[in-house]
Amino acid sequence: MNVTVFGTGYVGLVTGACLADVGHRVLCVDIDAGKVDRLNKGDVPIREPGLDALVARNLAAGTIAFSTDAAKGVAHADLLFIAVGTPPDEDGSADLQYVLSVAQTIGEAMTNRKVVAVKSTVPVGTSDKVGERIATVLAARQSTLQCDLVSNPEFLKEGAAVSDFLKPDRIIVGTASQRAREVMKELYEPFNRSNDRTLYMDVRSAELTKYAANAMLATKISFINEIANLAERLGADIEEVRRGIGADPRIGYHFIYPGMGYGGSCFPKDVQALGRTATDVGYDSPLIAAVEAVNNRQKHALFEKLATHFGGAAALKGKRIAVWGLAFKPNTDDMREAPARVFIEALWSAGAAATVFDPVAMDEMARIYGSRADLTFAADKYAALNGADALAICTEWQQFRAPDFAGMAERMPSRLIVDGRNIYSPERLSRDGWTYLSIGRAP
Ligand code: UGA
Repeated sequence: MNVTVFGTGYVGLVTGACLADVGHRVLCVDIDAGKVDRLNKGDVPIREPGLDALVARNLAAGTIAFSTDAAKGVAHADLLFIAVGTPPDEDGSADLQYVLSVAQTIGEAMTNRKVVAVKSTVPVGTSDKVGERIATVLAARQSTLQCDLVSNPEFLKEGAAVSDFLKPDRIIVGTASQRAREVMKELYEPFNRSNDRTLYMDVRSAELTKYAANAMLATKISFINEIANLAERLGADIEEVRRGIGADPRIGYHFIYPGMGYGGSCFPKDVQALGRTATDVGYDSPLIAAVEAVNNRQKHALFEKLATHFGGAAALKGKRIAVWGLAFKPNTDDMREAPARVFIEALWSAGAAATVFDPVAMDEMARIYGSRADLTFAADKYAALNGADALAICTEWQQFRAPDFAGMAERMPSRLIVDGRNIYSPERLSRDGWTYLSIGRAP
């Protein structure tokens, strides 16, 4: 099947590459000419396991190509995906200008009936707006052509996007059109051979499913963080509580890890946008607002522990803190909304310096903050400890889990660790003479 994907960001590129890999002929369209050139040479701008190989393989096979020519994109296929960005604007609502500008182009360039599938995460009602925009443009052209609208949200996790796409938990297809349903069924058939995981529903339910999934996961995280903060004050251990509640299959073990709050490009943006949507329809949702408020507060928790340990933020002036982990989660260099940023910015505000190490996000850190006197990049995790007054763990990379504590104590005689991800055993560290402050566990 011929398929066009508008937008070569995270979702668009992974979608295009995975669809090409099962044999569909995919044209990916983006307005960024530099990016399109790079992609046509097999140079993938994002870091995602397996994606480089997939793009290279399909470029060589001729099953994927990249172009800036939107009209060519419309002509290439009868199934058009919209996967462009929807950044939050000032008030937290999703900015739809890119989505609607693709709709405009489709309306202007189409010469036969198309299935238009919206894959970007968009507020409920957006797919209808896409349909309206296309219809308006067609009417202005005095055309009687038609479009079949689909909402087909994506559920990829960064760091596992390719495997999530190839082995989906579910495929959500929201449409009122039987024709579109059949096209989507054929498209996803290669991913559904052993077990059809497609759920068909109406457009608005599909759009809301995406937000509800992310908001539910974010709620689990804010909930466990809230209980962690309580556990600390009650002399309980959140890790025991986590295991205790996770054992109930109705609760489950997933997404109840306490920490520094959720970050990344999805949860913060989507929870905010859902709250905004609720307000727009005149519904007061204290729960959604609380999920966000708890998360914002949690991002400061680690800094507060450190400051309290030293007797207040003012006492951090002139101190040097080693930071392990910058990315918002392991296996990515993405630092969007990363809790590490809140922690490090708080250090700087208090007049402390940071020596940072992350296995892959150091370039991103340098890109965001540039060079500054109170920021040092360490060559490796141990080098970050030289001259440091404390170590802060901000991302739970595998390589931080079982370090050489004896060697670390030689480099950092203060033996002080503040851990935002609870990766060590408090008993073990206290036995070796460390002061270890973590989340939801009394020191
Ligand atoms: C998230 C969802 O997991 C995907 O299903 C969804 O498709 C995607 O957003 C999206 O909407 O595009 P992602 O942002 O890649 O994926 O990251 P997650 O692995 O979900 O982690 C999000 C944040 O929650 C991270 O900062 C992580 O450290 C934090 N987290 C996660 C916790 O603090 N505790 C947990 O138990 C789990």
